[in-house]
Amino acid sequence: MLSGKKLGIIGAGKLGEAIAQGLMTHGVLSASNILCSVKRDDSIARVKSKLGIDATLDNVAVARESDVILLAVKPQNVERVAHDIRAVVQPSQLVLSVAAAVTTGYIEERLEKPIPVVRAMPNTPASINAGMTAICKGKFATKEHLSMAEEIFRAVGEVVMLDESLFDGVTALSASGPAYIYVVIESLAEAGVKLGIPRDVSTLLAAQTTMGAAKLALETKQHPALLKDSVTTPAGTTIDGLLELEAGGLRVTLIKAVVKAAERAGQLVKK
Ligand SMILES: NC(=O)c1ccc[n+]([C@@H]2O[C@H](COP(=O)([O-])OP(=O)(O)OC[C@H]3O[C@@H](n4cnc5c(N)ncnc54)[C@H](OP(=O)(O)O)[C@@H]3O)[C@@H](O)[C@H]2O)c1
Repeated sequence: MLSGKKLGIIGAGKLGEAIAQGLMTHGVLSASNILCSVKRDDSIARVKSKLGIDATLDNVAVARESDVILLAVKPQNVERVAHDIRAVVQPSQLVLSVAAAVTTGYIEERLEKPIPVVRAMPNTPASINAGMTAICKGKFATKEHLSMAEEIFRAVGEVVMLDESLFDGVTALSASGPAYIYVVIESLAEAGVKLGIPRDVSTLLAAQTTMGAAKLALETKQHPALLKDSVTTPAGTTIDGLLELEAGGLRVTLIKAVVKAAERAGQLVKK
């Protein structure tokens, strides 16, 4: 479905670059089928040298030349970009937005035409084909548009289709999630250092353990509590560690962190 199509990325920052990188690495699109726009002059050289794709400051040119227009600017810049491109964007194109908190309705309204819009909420592990993306469609998009978006994000990880009303929660859980996990990895590594393990080895132990535990949960589909029990020998060492986690309120803290981030997502952009 995507083959031979042009993808225009408006806002090739951290996430825009990660998606472009993932698509090229996995052979979904070649560099010649991707173009992008950025805000600052010096970003053009960065994108060209890092990704080998054409970059410009001209959002209108990117919108005009693309079959799929990916909006990957900060939420507060979506209004400006929609204003820039609304005269050239056509109903035959697909506008795909990854901006947190920006609804499909918000974009449709500002494009002032029946433009198909799909909203996606990916995360940065997309750059290594380990992304997690939720997608939903706006009122002018069809199942085919949704499939095209799915193809893009399937190339860089897992995809789920969800109701748009759940997107602030998805933003807080899986889009912000890598940051929470890095704090966990960093903290476990610090513990290793405290116990005399060299920092590089300690970080490897922590990161590989995090990945292995996640893989086991995904592959076995067992409830995390059962997997936890399988590590916890009666009167062994793990139960003492778990008791410290409970005393420190890790569960409640994580739940509250995600709920707080979802509340913030709901406030980012006026609807
Ligand atoms: N980072 C994540 O983990 C993540 C996850 C899910 C969703 N998102 C969403 O993805 C979007 C981008 O986030 P990010 O972290 O990638 O931000 P970022 O690194 O700051 O990238 C934003 C990009 O937008 C460009 N830009 C700003 N104003 C522009 C304009 N008027 N026209 C064209 N380009 C413009 C910037 O250009 P310069 O490079 O020249 O400054 C930059 O390349 C956000 O809406 C965010 O909510 C991010």
